[in-house]
Amino acid sequence: MPKTHLKHLAIIMDGNGRWAEQRGQNRTKGHEAGAEVIRDITTFCSNHTDIKSVTFYAFSTENWKRPKLEVDFLMRLLDRYLKNELKTYQEQNIRFQAIGNIDEFSKALQNRIRETEEQTRNNTNLTQILALNYGGRAEITQAVNSLIDSGKTHLSEADISSALQTPYSDIDLLIRTSGEERISNFLLWQLSYSEFYFTQTLWPDFNAEELNEIIDDFEQRNRRFGGI
Ligand code: IPE
Ligand code: IPE
Ligand code: MG
Repeated sequence: MPKTHLKHLAIIMDGNGRWAEQRGQNRTKGHEAGAEVIRDITTFCSNHTDIKSVTFYAFSTENWKRPKLEVDFLMRLLDRYLKNELKTYQEQNIRFQAIGNIDEFSKALQNRIRETEEQTRNNTNLTQILALNYGGRAEITQAVNSLIDSGKTHLSEADISSALQTPYSDIDLLIRTSGEERISNFLLWQLSYSEFYFTQTLWPDFNAEELNEIIDDFEQRNRRFGGI
């Protein structure tokens, strides 16, 4: 059987809080450790011949429910991450893109996100997408509303796909860490024929070696898309 190619990988990075709590540390330590893993996994993806896009779930539309101190910390961490990452994006020819409603973030953080997108827009080796204040239902609802506003009264699947913030490709493989087996409002439309892989590993302990094993497993799978 020919190997299955992985073009677009998506990851629900979960377990930062539990990782820190197991060490008797504040949850924020888990988020800091988790940010380092994003860097390592992105570098792995940029060195992988098949992978063209990697999408990380970094902050959901539901994560505002967390204590304000934790939310504020995540916002500062994101700003710091993007500031430090610019060099890596340029060196490794990685394009950065955000999906989600970032207009609910501070003006300074919105600027950081837009500037990083702008400065990396011509990079072609890999696209790293961060889902920020992202919800799958919100994305679909906004897409439909924008089509209605443009005057359409009847929609095709192609219309909706192209109005989404993530029109470039469906997800081939979704990984969720920390043992939870749910979607948590991630890419609902784009996951319709994805392969899923759940690992017990907490996100700060995840690494390129485990990702490599997961990809080996994925490449053996027989994706039928409804055929035989
Ligand atoms: C994932 O780790 C990071 C975000 C959702 C921002 P969690 O913070 O959800 O970690 P757990 O699930 O509480 O362990
Ligand atoms: C999903 O993780 C969101 C992100 C990883 C950003 P959560 O930890 O927020 O999800 P639930 O609440 O366990 O479903
Ligand atoms: Mg969690």
